[in-house]
Amino acid sequence: MKKIPLIMDCDPGLDDAIALLLAIASPEELDILGISTVVGNVTVSQNQENARRICELTNQPDLKVFQGCARTFFERISPADSEYTADIHGETGLGGCKLPTPTMPLQSQDGVSFIIETLLNASEKITLAPSGPLTNVACALIMEPRIKDKIEKIVVMGGVIGLGNITPTAEYNFYCDPQAAYVVFTSGVPIVMIGLDATRQTQTSQEWLRTLAEIGTPVAQAVIDMLSFYHRPNAFLEPGVLGGVLHDPNIIAYLLKPELYSGRNAYVEIDVSSTIMAGRSTVDWHGKLGRKPNAYIINKVDVDGFFDLLTSRLNRYPMTTEKVHTCNHC
Ligand code: RIB
Ligand code: CA
Repeated sequence: MKKIPLIMDCDPGLDDAIALLLAIASPEELDILGISTVVGNVTVSQNQENARRICELTNQPDLKVFQGCARTFFERISPADSEYTADIHGETGLGGCKLPTPTMPLQSQDGVSFIIETLLNASEKITLAPSGPLTNVACALIMEPRIKDKIEKIVVMGGVIGLGNITPTAEYNFYCDPQAAYVVFTSGVPIVMIGLDATRQTQTSQEWLRTLAEIGTPVAQAVIDMLSFYHRPNAFLEPGVLGGVLHDPNIIAYLLKPELYSGRNAYVEIDVSSTIMAGRSTVDWHGKLGRKPNAYIINKVDVDGFFDLLTSRLNRYPMTTEKVHTCNHC
């Protein structure tokens, strides 16, 4: 299988962190060209530090981490003063698990310039994997439209066909920056949208957490420590959500095993109003409007296949003697 050249754009955040772990554990399939961070679950300075923490946890200090946009276009929700995100991802964005302060460098180039320059200089098309607000990707598309021809596809965690999470209508990433999502979904670039309808199917369970505990490596322990904060019934004030919803790792699992996913091409429109619909992704699932589809919308996941893949890849990380993390409750 030809390696997929990949740019991960994220806001780690617990589920972003696990997406990074899954991607880094998959070097046969993925060539991670760089990790850009964006304001979202926590501030971008915290996000970029967390991304570097994950790179060091996996002994990959040569991975390039970039800091991107520190705010969204209209700053609808600011993680700095949003109890919503602290309640879900914890004050640091990595739940109850403290990883050592990173020593690997943060790249001096900003995240948006990195995306633009990497795409323009690429000899082959690159896949973008955004798992936070789409501010960086939208800025890149606005600043340099020529990059559209260099993007293989954008596999985004965001949006929803049905009920939102941050509001009744909108999913968090699109709600944070509806304008950015609008720019991306009207860009004409091929999009795979993995929204809440799919990701809510991949919730953590006590049984799965016990499976991780049996692995016993520092990475598995770090994931348990992260998820112990995340795995709470109705943590998102969403009835029926019993575990921690692993939203973002679905992007990477889709790239690794697309056969685990199904959906359909559909027209999607992003609401950029300042009403209760802000950030809404209206998905014309039955083609009522007769408009040209602009995204492939995932609505079904082989959940067992997802967790088998995630567990097997996390199991690849080696046992190590040095203590790589300390936790409040270790
Ligand atoms: O709505 C879920 C998304 O919002 C995930 O990407 C999570 O990390 C948060 O960014
Ligand atoms: Ca995220």
